[in-house]
Amino acid sequence: MNQVMDVLMKRKSVRAYEDREISAEERADILKATLRAPTAGNLMLYSILDVTDQKIKECLAITCDNQPFIARAPMVWIFLADYQRWHDYFIVSGVEELCKLKGTSMQKPEEGDLFLACSDALIAAQNAVTAAESLGLGSCYIGDIMEQYETHKELLHLPQYVFPIGMVVFGYPTQQQKERDYTSRFDEKFIVFENQYHRLDGREFDEMFAERQSQLPKGKSMEGIVNVGQATYLRKFSADYSVEMRRSVRAILKEWMNG
Ligand SMILES: Cc1cc2nc3c(=O)[nH]c(=O)nc-3n(C[C@H](O)[C@H](O)[C@H](O)COP(=O)(O)O)c2cc1C
Repeated sequence: MNQVMDVLMKRKSVRAYEDREISAEERADILKATLRAPTAGNLMLYSILDVTDQKIKECLAITCDNQPFIARAPMVWIFLADYQRWHDYFIVSGVEELCKLKGTSMQKPEEGDLFLACSDALIAAQNAVTAAESLGLGSCYIGDIMEQYETHKELLHLPQYVFPIGMVVFGYPTQQQKERDYTSRFDEKFIVFENQYHRLDGREFDEMFAERQSQLPKGKSMEGIVNVGQATYLRKFSADYSVEMRRSVRAILKEWMNG
């Protein structure tokens, strides 16, 4: 295996960090690699918030579903899908006047533009994750940054066409984190299809989930739960944080579309 493959195969999420700062050089290297990520139309439809204020980190540790390790991470980057910059630039460039001359009106960013900007932001985030890993740093995505929109909007001064699609926290892994087992993945035959989509049936699901089913914890909290589907639905899909994420994203979308 070459070194890039090695870094990709060895990565795992890291949620506990050594008490050690990330040097300015390392931060600069990670940022350089991040900004070289592919970007739709070379537009760079994202911004990165480098959260250095400890009070903001502590707030995020609460608002992002109470995950205290966020406040302990030496580097916290929020990846914003960002159409505000281009929209503002169109306006200062006289696009409105140009459209009037042409008998049209200036279009505003819609859902499709948001999806493209989210793709840009997350592709850049993954470059940061891989670059950090190659330097011996661990990282962890925090999807809960999509929750609590109203609070985050005020805390981070987010304008209308900016959507906080992901957060990544970075730090040197503790020994325990280095030694921790890797998480499993589903067999590729359930994930990769040739040419056309294949919907799985009951027998295939049994095979797909056999390993996770055998590891399903027992005990009081599992009362009435007989399989991975039920456990995942209750613990993740219908959990409070998922309900809040859906509410918050709907609020962001409403604002984005009300332009
Ligand atoms: C979009 C996204 C959101 C995530 N959000 C969280 C999170 O809020 N908290 C957390 O501890 N891990 C989070 N993770 C990390 C996943 O739990 C982790 O990637 C998964 O369990 C697989 O483990 P691994 O990364 O160690 O291979 C997130 C990962 C992704 C890709």
